[in-house]
Amino acid sequence: MSETTFFHMDHINKYYQMGDEQAHILKDIALDIKEGEYLSVLGPSGSGKSTLMNIIGCLDTPSSGQYTLHGREIEELSEVELADIRSSEIGFIFQNSQLLPRLTAQKNVELPLIYAGVSPRERKRRAREMLEKVGLQDRMGHYPNQLSGGQQQRVAIARALVGNPSILLADEPTGALDQKTGRQVMALFQNLNDEGRTIVMITHDMNIAAFARRVVHIVDGTLTEGGGTSDA
Ligand SMILES: Nc1ncnc2c1ncn2[C@@H]1O[C@H](COP(=O)(O)OP(=O)(O)OP(=O)(O)O)[C@@H](O)[C@H]1O
Ligand SMILES: [Mg+2]
Repeated sequence: MSETTFFHMDHINKYYQMGDEQAHILKDIALDIKEGEYLSVLGPSGSGKSTLMNIIGCLDTPSSGQYTLHGREIEELSEVELADIRSSEIGFIFQNSQLLPRLTAQKNVELPLIYAGVSPRERKRRAREMLEKVGLQDRMGHYPNQLSGGQQQRVAIARALVGNPSILLADEPTGALDQKTGRQVMALFQNLNDEGRTIVMITHDMNIAAFARRVVHIVDGTLTEGGGTSDA
């Protein structure tokens, strides 16, 4: 494993017990990601994308196989250590932004810092800085229902980034957005990657996947390398 490898997966399998049957959801997956990569995982509905994302993000564990994240063997870690990795290493973006409706944009972005024990003053400063970065400097006091879908998704991106995670994990980040707004979010991802942020983006849409530098395909739980796109 080279020192720039960010995570390494080998022979990853995931089974779900369904009554008497075992459903084989992820099949012998091997995947390596280097620091600073921008990877898209492209596959149809039900192919196992979210299952894979949950494993990458340490929200779930594989049934078998090896997963090393930043040099640490995930299967050897306790729940507490996993929770610590989730909050310090990983920024999650879900299909629907999952903002808390009773909190302003700024407070939503501050949330991960509250859990991390950052002081109120510093939280506020960092939340405002991130909201500026995603172009929402004039919307900080708005509540989610006072924001458009694209603006809500940008708040979610700011929230995912405010703890300065080493990797951004996004599951269908443009799924709820129109084409134009989706492109704005993709432009933002591009900037983040240009700044060196590692990104894994999950999508069923090949037009969205094409924004990433590297695409892997997942079909029926099997992953195959799809080659680069941006150099083409
Ligand atoms: N907890 C579970 N128990 C049993 N089966 C599950 C569970 N979670 C997911 N599955 C099954 O695993 C398969 C993959 O699900 P997954 O959510 O990873 O798909 P996906 O590629 O993210 O699909 P979509 O694009 O629709 O979000 C599906 O067939 C689903 O029914
Ligand atoms: Mg999914």
